[in-house]
Amino acid sequence: MDPMRKVLAEWTQEIPESEIRRLLKSKTKYYLAGGLPGILPTKIFPEILRELAEYYDSDPQNVINEFQYGQTAGWPDLRKILAERLVTKDKITCIGGREDWEKILISTGSQQAIYLALDILINPGDIVVTPSPAYLGFVTTVVKVGGHVVTAPTDTEGLIPEYVEDTIIKAEKEFGKKVKILYVVEDSDNPKGTTLSFKRREQLFNIAEQHDVIVICDAAYKEIQFEERRPTMKTLDKDNTRVIHASTSSKEAAPLRIGYTLMPDFLHIEAEKSKGYLDLCTPTITQRIAEIYYEKYIEESLPPIVQKYKEQKDIAYQALLDTFPEGEFTNPTGGFFIWWQPKGEKAFSFNVDKFNQEVLLPNEVLVVPGKAFYPPQGHSYDPETRKIEQLKVINGGMRIGYSFVSKDLIDIGVRKLGNLLSEHL
Ligand SMILES: Cc1ncc(COP(=O)(O)O)c(C=O)c1O
Repeated sequence: MDPMRKVLAEWTQEIPESEIRRLLKSKTKYYLAGGLPGILPTKIFPEILRELAEYYDSDPQNVINEFQYGQTAGWPDLRKILAERLVTKDKITCIGGREDWEKILISTGSQQAIYLALDILINPGDIVVTPSPAYLGFVTTVVKVGGHVVTAPTDTEGLIPEYVEDTIIKAEKEFGKKVKILYVVEDSDNPKGTTLSFKRREQLFNIAEQHDVIVICDAAYKEIQFEERRPTMKTLDKDNTRVIHASTSSKEAAPLRIGYTLMPDFLHIEAEKSKGYLDLCTPTITQRIAEIYYEKYIEESLPPIVQKYKEQKDIAYQALLDTFPEGEFTNPTGGFFIWWQPKGEKAFSFNVDKFNQEVLLPNEVLVVPGKAFYPPQGHSYDPETRKIEQLKVINGGMRIGYSFVSKDLIDIGVRKLGNLLSEHL
C-alpha cells in the first residue's frame, strides 16, 4: 500500500467505489445496468436556453443579478413554484403553497439532500432502518457519516410494516439505542421498482410516530409513474414534524441537478446551515432553467415521456416472463427498474457479480448485482428468526434497468439474460 494513504480519513478505507460507477466502465450492447434517464424533453431545453439568452441579452443588469452567488436554500422563484407543486400535485397540506416557499430547500440533486439530512441527524453509531435491498447512495452515505444500517425485509410491494416495527423494537434492544431514521422510497424504488400501497404508507407513518423515528421519504421516481400516484406519507404529516420529503428533477430533467426537499422546520434550519458549508449555493443558472421548465413545460412534456418508459418496461417485463427461470420479480408501475431474484437459498448464494463477469459480459449483457444495494457493514432483521443478525445480502438478486436502452435492445438483452440464467440455475 502506498504509505501516503495513511493520511486518508478512515471512511475512505471502509467504503469501496460504488458498484454502479465501477460497472459504468464496462460498455455492453445490452446495458441493463444503467439507471440513467434515456428519454428527455430534447426540444424544450434548447427553447428554455434561448429564452434565457434573450433575457440576459436584454439588460446587463439581468446578468449581474443572476450570474451570481444565490441564497443557500435556493432561488426564491423556483422555490415558489415547487412549493405550489407539492400542494397541487402531491396534495401535501402542511405547507400553504407559494407563500410558504421558504420551507423548500433546493439542493444539488436529491443526493445532496440525503447527505444533508444524514449529516445533521447522525451521531456515530446511530441506527438507520432501510429496506433490503436499498438505494446504494443512501445506505453507503449512512455508513460514511458514521451511522449503523439495519435492513428490514421487503416483498414485491416494498417494505413490510409488521417487520419494520419488529426491526425497530429488536434493534433498539440489541444495540441499546433508539432508532433514529427510517428510509422509505414509496414510488418505484431503486433497486426493486416496488410501490407501496397507501395502507402500507399509513402503517409505516404510524409506526414512525409511535416509535419517534424520523422518516426520510425519498420521492426520486414520483414523476415517472405509469398509474395514478398514491398519496405520499407527507400528506399524513399534517404538522410537518416527522417526514423529510425529498424530491428531485433528475429523473425527468436530469442535467439540472435540482433537488427540492420539504422537511420539519427545525431540520430545515440545520440542513441549510450544513449546505452552506458544503457548496454555499446551488448554481443559479440551472435553477432558472428548472424554474421555467416547471412553470411552463412539465405538464405537457412529461406524459409522453412517461408513456415511453412504460412501453420499455412492458417489453422488458414480457421478455422476463418468457425466458427467466423460477424466481421472485417485480412488475413496476413506474420508475426505471425491474428486480429479479432466484427462489429460496439461491437468492443469497447465487453470485451475480461472477455471473456478470464470466457469462453476461462475454454476451454483451450487464446488470447490477444485488450486493450493490447493501452497505459495506451493518445488520439485518431476519423474518424467520425474528432477530437482528449479521448483514444478510441478497447476492442472487439483480437490478434490470429499462430506462436507457432502446426498445429492441431491451427485448433482445432481457431475453438473452433470461436464457443465460435458465442455463445456469
Ligand atoms: C432512490 C434514489 N434517490 C435519490 C437519487 C439521487 O437523485 P439525484 O440525481 O436527484 O441526486 C437517486 C438516483 O439515482 C435514486 O435512485
